[in-house]
Amino acid sequence: MPRKKKIVLVAGARPNFMKIAPLMRELKNQGSFNPILVHTGQHYDDKMSSLFFRQLGIPAPDINLEVGSASHAVQTARIMERFEKVCLDIKPDAVLVVGDVNSTAACVLTASKMNIKTIHYEAGLRSFDRRMPEEINRVVTDAICDYFFTTSADADQNLVNEGKDPQQIFMCGNLMIDSLVANLEKIETTSAEVKLISNQMINPLGEFGAGNYGLVTLHRPSNVDEAPVLGEIMKALDSASELIPMVFPAHPRTIDRIDTFGMKRLIDRGSDLLFSFPLGYIEFMALLKNARFLITDSGGIQEETTWLNIPCLTLRKNTERPVTLTMGSNKLIDPEDVKPEIERILSGKGKSGQIPPNWDGKAAGRIIDVLIKVL
Ligand code: UD1
Repeated sequence: MPRKKKIVLVAGARPNFMKIAPLMRELKNQGSFNPILVHTGQHYDDKMSSLFFRQLGIPAPDINLEVGSASHAVQTARIMERFEKVCLDIKPDAVLVVGDVNSTAACVLTASKMNIKTIHYEAGLRSFDRRMPEEINRVVTDAICDYFFTTSADADQNLVNEGKDPQQIFMCGNLMIDSLVANLEKIETTSAEVKLISNQMINPLGEFGAGNYGLVTLHRPSNVDEAPVLGEIMKALDSASELIPMVFPAHPRTIDRIDTFGMKRLIDRGSDLLFSFPLGYIEFMALLKNARFLITDSGGIQEETTWLNIPCLTLRKNTERPVTLTMGSNKLIDPEDVKPEIERILSGKGKSGQIPPNWDGKAAGRIIDVLIKVL
């Protein structure tokens, strides 16, 4: 019997885990490959990493590079140095990376120089804004990968515009939606209790009821790293919370900046803008599924709201996921639009949309069918 091909899957940061979970599950069930999971350790807190592994049923990583937090250059370099040793040791037939985080670009750069076949899931997304570190990661990754799995037709077109052969590109659908579909029952039955940073416990579903609260997530450096910008956003959110309570599970970066910029009184004073530490996948999705709207600067959540058909107000000038604007329930807004947009939603005029093609919970199976053919 021929030996099973070794495929290394790379996971590094929180948004990677929902994409890796269905792929690992399907690879293990399908049995054609020998999948090896490498965690770079870019995210390491229980709430940012292990909790997601447990909730999504991802097997423990075979190898953890334990790189931790550092500047972009140091983190990327550490991942490359340690991943090179892994590749020398394991000699994989292919390396598959997902998303657009530092771990994605670092591992592709390492593997492709070692003449290992490289595959990018979520290829071709472009914000065309190089001030975003993720855009640099996307461009670098796609410049050198061998095979591209995409989530939407605009991504295929971007890759073709950049000179890729259409034969290398496969629009197999959206793995985040695979995770969402696979976990719907758990999401629908969880109590979604939330511990606020102020230590108070609340159950937004019980206390406010479905559709009677908003949800907020913010962590992009462009929104949270400068005091005047974060201050303007916080003021807008605080004022809008007079209309409807809003739950704000805050990323460690955002909590840190709120503290540093002397805005902690917003957290402490217990208004209707309710700050919590990061939530697990199931709890967050349960809150999202029942929220009246979401305000965010995340990439993945723009897709999840589109699938759930919940109005999404994205506090950014651009998005690498335009299908969520053209087909879905997403809208780009500035801080001054927060309150008027919420008023529109509360008066029943929130944006609704459709589900893009192949966002059906079956992307992992299609991806593996392609991998069997091309590897
Ligand atoms: C990273 C990704 C971003 C992704 C986000 C999701 C890059 C360039 N950015 O940004 O695309 O949307 O993850 O969360 O790869 N920290 C902790 N615990 C952790 C990890 C981080 O407390 O487990 C803190 C550290 O203080 C760190 C800060 O959060 O300095 C930022 O983490 P980092 O991984 O550098 O970037 P993110 O903002 O998380």
